[in-house]
Amino acid sequence: MRTVHTIRELRALISSHRQHGHRVGLVPTMGNLHEGHISLVEKALLQADVVVTSIFVNPMQFGAGEDLESYPRTLREDQQKLEAAGNHIVFAPPVEEVYPHGLVEQTQVTVPVVSEGHCGASRPGHFDGVSTVVTMLFNMVQPDVAIFGEKDFQQLAVIRKMASDLFMPIEIVGAPTMRDEDGLARSSRNGYLTESERLIAPTLYKTLQQTAANIQNGQSNFAELEKEANETLSKAGFRPDYVNIANSVTLKPARPGDGEITILAAAFLGKTRLIDNLSIHRD
Ligand code: PAJ
Repeated sequence: MRTVHTIRELRALISSHRQHGHRVGLVPTMGNLHEGHISLVEKALLQADVVVTSIFVNPMQFGAGEDLESYPRTLREDQQKLEAAGNHIVFAPPVEEVYPHGLVEQTQVTVPVVSEGHCGASRPGHFDGVSTVVTMLFNMVQPDVAIFGEKDFQQLAVIRKMASDLFMPIEIVGAPTMRDEDGLARSSRNGYLTESERLIAPTLYKTLQQTAANIQNGQSNFAELEKEANETLSKAGFRPDYVNIANSVTLKPARPGDGEITILAAAFLGKTRLIDNLSIHRD
């Protein structure tokens, strides 16, 4: 496995693979890798001859007061996990490599509508930061296929829309959410939880499952179901940000007749913001 820190080295490596006719896969990450990230690498290995995993804590997608400085940076351990998984290239650029002119002058990519509700409403500018850096990574690596987790459901929808609207010749593949045994979705931010918060954390997914069961049982007053879910989370000790029952494709509020529904939720446990989602298919 090779680790490179500059775009020049990355391009040299990739062009030699291209000369051999290799199909290139990209897994964009912010590092502090866990089994969720590794599952994306494994999926990429099935779809490409050479897999590039990028590790870059992207300042543009963090808001004021968010955890940019404290976000865990664990390159050594990440490299070991990637090597064990069979990843080929790690691209870990410093901030100056990606934003040589700083953030203020940086050209941005905005994906309207789909980026506006849910996390987009609570984290203004977040998805502009994500779609901009992912475009840059796409242009640096020029992959044939890129893998993103369904854990960040709205992010995946934003990237799909961006790639489609801008005619990016890249296949966008979604991968299922990896969870701990008690249902908590794996996340780099789980490491912020205290012992007692960690015990409460699985209630987020349990609440989504309960809401999904109520919808499957025919309850169609979605506003009421969202309210109940918020109350359950508050009682468990969360500070809920939102629970939204949405159409899985448009991410707009679901209508009772919709066949593809996703319940999206974000909630704080102490200082830690957790997100999760659950999709339901109905005939
Ligand atoms: P990060 O949070 O590091 O996540 C990198 C990728 O791993 C994303 O596609 C995310 O959805 C996926 N992922 C995270 N937890 C997962 C889990 N439990 N199961 C499956 N996949 C999981 O998302 C980002 O970084 C950034 O926004 C990025 C796309 C890299 C742009 O900066």
